[in-house]
Amino acid sequence: MATDAQRIEELRRLIEHHNYLYYVKAEPEISDREFDRLYSELVELEKKHPELITPESPTQRVGGQPIEGFESVTHDIPMLSIDNTYNADELRAFDVRTRRFIGGDQEFDYVVELKVDGVAAKVIYENGALTLAATRGDGVTGDDISANIRTIGAIPLRLGTGGERDVPALLEARGEIFMTMEELARQNRIREKKKLGPLANPRNAAAGALKLLDPRECAKRHLSVFFYGLGVYEGPEIDYHHDVLETFVSLGLPVNPHWKLLSSIEEVIEFAEQWALKRARLPYQIDGLVVKVDSYALQSRLGRTAKAPRSMIAYKYPAEQAASKVLGIRVQVGKTGTLTPVADLEPVKLAGTTVKRASLHNFDEVKRKDIRVGDHVLVEKAGEIIPQVVAVVDAQREGRQEKLEPPDNCPSCGGPVARSPEEVYLRCTNLDCPAQLRERLRYFASRQAMDIEGLGPAVIDQLVDRAMVRDPADLYDLETGKVEKLERMGTKSSENLIKAIKASKSRGLERLLTALAIRHVGSTMAATLAGHFGSLERLMEADTGELESIKDVGCTVAASIVDFFASDQNRKVIEKLRKAGVSTIAKARSREGGELFEKTFVFTGTLEQMTRAEAENMVRDRGG
Ligand code: IVH
Repeated sequence: MATDAQRIEELRRLIEHHNYLYYVKAEPEISDREFDRLYSELVELEKKHPELITPESPTQRVGGQPIEGFESVTHDIPMLSIDNTYNADELRAFDVRTRRFIGGDQEFDYVVELKVDGVAAKVIYENGALTLAATRGDGVTGDDISANIRTIGAIPLRLGTGGERDVPALLEARGEIFMTMEELARQNRIREKKKLGPLANPRNAAAGALKLLDPRECAKRHLSVFFYGLGVYEGPEIDYHHDVLETFVSLGLPVNPHWKLLSSIEEVIEFAEQWALKRARLPYQIDGLVVKVDSYALQSRLGRTAKAPRSMIAYKYPAEQAASKVLGIRVQVGKTGTLTPVADLEPVKLAGTTVKRASLHNFDEVKRKDIRVGDHVLVEKAGEIIPQVVAVVDAQREGRQEKLEPPDNCPSCGGPVARSPEEVYLRCTNLDCPAQLRERLRYFASRQAMDIEGLGPAVIDQLVDRAMVRDPADLYDLETGKVEKLERMGTKSSENLIKAIKASKSRGLERLLTALAIRHVGSTMAATLAGHFGSLERLMEADTGELESIKDVGCTVAASIVDFFASDQNRKVIEKLRKAGVSTIAKARSREGGELFEKTFVFTGTLEQMTRAEAENMVRDRGG
């Protein structure tokens, strides 16, 4: 018994030591297999002696149960933000300001660190044990993410593994939780298999992982961390920021190794220039550098503005760019006829993904930037997944192709193209345009609209090409016998499709209004309209005056709705839908009884488990 207890302690120390060598020192001494063997031995011994398990045991990183929600944590010392600079002169101006404030010719140093792109968080250790972790939140209060933080292998559950320094009674370490580019790519491969959209960038990926309610799921995201700052602290005196970084390392907290102590702003600028080139080779994304006055005495003299300390400044790199070549320019037709020029590009690696195309937005934009096929261009991803063509870099080449003129006719159906005076977009006005029809059907069947499972792009293309469907209402006349003759459709799948189409009849007015793809009417507006009118019939009778009297309905939306229902063709489609038995009545939402009644939610960015429209529907279904 005594020997088992001793071995358990020894194994824990060994595991912590090798974790430290791996994550903090980046100098592992044993292989992953040997590490796993130590870990398994500990798991086995703890199974035999469950009474010896403590929360600090490396086996206890992933807690038992998913949590219901995150508790709020008020920061004892606010987690401030930091001012940004974008070029060398702004850095020099910061230096001048700082020196003037400090006064005289007093010499001081700067610490320069890489600014890793992730999520700011703090971790609190009391007498060496991890007791709390929280997000920055709005700087005053954040979320208690202790359970998720414990799953990050690089975060020690107990301080002191490094050895040389005394463990402080209280230590709040602040740092950046992030995801490496390799892990992001791995996560996106998994998401693709699950038919989920890609995570746009490592910052979103880290934020999404930390917000997961189930720590077991968070553990699968393999997050990383670098610590860069001190919050609440009770321990041996520390007078310089560089000393904090060294203390962190010796206590076992990972610190980005590329920091430097420099004595002049010109050295800082040189450091920034070096990293502008080197940063592409880092396994994680940085968006700049942070420059900090090293002395804490000077830091506290400099104080802070309302939002940021005066002793620090961020130097931000421009969004990552890459050179590519325009191989072709296509014009895509959207569901309401909008014509969007899209550039096919020579594939190029940019901020972690391979870019093959970029939206050129509209023809004014193409003209302004004078983008032509064959041009060498600069593409940029400004923090998001959709790349932009920034500029043409080589316009003088021989044999440069002709300018791309805005088309007079729709590239899909040849129909007339119009441009309303207040808009930059061109639009195909042919209501029978097959490209529009395809997009409309896709949207009609999508999860946020009529949610027809099995009606994917391949089936839609065939239905349109064979003229089996001329408008969304035709879907409800389809029969198994005909559908099973389509390519890659068997009896079973066509039966399922017909069943799914039938099931969509009872989705209710809100979904139907979304599905009709009326311009300016998305799922939120559809919910407002369904709630107000209750039936499609009532909505169709409304004039702009009545529509505009509704909260959130402006004149553009009102005009668009009236126009839509004034069209004979649209009225015919609606009549066919009604005859087919599609519900045009609003579903009674259990609003007042709903658990989210009178609560407002805003969804932005990419969600982990569902689309934004689905999340919005879930909130509305609960009365929100
Ligand atoms: S110091 C008073 N150092 O950048 C705020 N921040 O734009 C002190 N960040 O919220 C922040 N690396 O999330 C600091 N080495 C570093 C950093 C860093 C990344 C993030 C952090 C902060 C944001 C400010």
